[in-house]
Amino acid sequence: MATILSITNGVLGLKVTTLGATIMDLTVKDKNGVERDVVLGYDTTEEYIEKDGYLGALIGRFANRISTSSFTLNGVEYVLSQNDGPNCLHGGKGGFSTREFGFQQDEYKLSFVYESKDGEEGFPGNMTIRSEYILQGNSLIIRYSATTDKDTVVNLTNHSYFNLSGAPCYIGDHVLTMKADKYACINNVGVPTGEFRDVTGTPFDFRAGKRIGDTLETAKNEDGSFVDEQLQLGHGIDHPYVFSAEKDQVSLYCEETGIEMVISSDLPGTQIYSGNFLTERDGKRGSHMVPRDAVCIETQYLPDGIHLEEEPMCILRAGETYHSETSYTFNIK
Ligand code: GAL
Repeated sequence: MATILSITNGVLGLKVTTLGATIMDLTVKDKNGVERDVVLGYDTTEEYIEKDGYLGALIGRFANRISTSSFTLNGVEYVLSQNDGPNCLHGGKGGFSTREFGFQQDEYKLSFVYESKDGEEGFPGNMTIRSEYILQGNSLIIRYSATTDKDTVVNLTNHSYFNLSGAPCYIGDHVLTMKADKYACINNVGVPTGEFRDVTGTPFDFRAGKRIGDTLETAKNEDGSFVDEQLQLGHGIDHPYVFSAEKDQVSLYCEETGIEMVISSDLPGTQIYSGNFLTERDGKRGSHMVPRDAVCIETQYLPDGIHLEEEPMCILRAGETYHSETSYTFNIK
């Protein structure tokens, strides 16, 4: 049975279910002092089980896609749970978003732990995953750690669907600013091809800050498909970006509420996903969602890095500890 936990520090409020250590609500006051819940979600844990999309969940063992649902490490081939065409997506069918986490509640901090068994979803090694969700001033800080008893791979992220207006609605009017000179091209099943493209002169350039809609509303063919081949392959933005700065890499701003969120991460990049497959459904407090009603900013290692990188960053050796930290800071403008 899942437990729902809530903490507040007077500036931010956080509600999490122990199922998938999933963020259900994240509240902040807007420019008029009205409390806004800036993530999409549901009222009950059951709905997170029934409906797809990974709303708010902690994603592991491997965020994003591993092509062919298999990889070889130390000469051994591991066959993974296949749940996205030929790929293993977000840890497979029984990824962390479906698992019950142990928890501890402190005044301003929620701590979670999950023991993932050797061979779970095909991944090698008994792995202990810990995460901490900390409210500090106007920031939510998420820390992850993982250890294993066998060499393995790991890629952890949070899959919140942000909408800083406080309810699901077209995300195109939010302004996204990103310190990222390059993005990874994807193939027709959403996996990076290995080509990293300079964003200059492409719809993927958010360095100077622009409406997400400026990209989503770019030229379309007569049949409604995007003229830009990469946008068409992702059905919108659904691409890995490589950060070109060490901190404060992403900011998202909603003029209507004056809420700005700044994301700072020690990870090398992020998936930006414009909610293209968020099929129509009901959400919390009578809300209703349709595609493109939010944006996910999923800080992570390179998807499929185990096949693409010469020295994959995602390899975690037995006895070593994986650490990462991503913070979400809310300002009013
Ligand atoms: C994203 C992924 C999308 C889609 C979504 C879940 O992280 O990039 O392609 O699978 O999760 O619906």
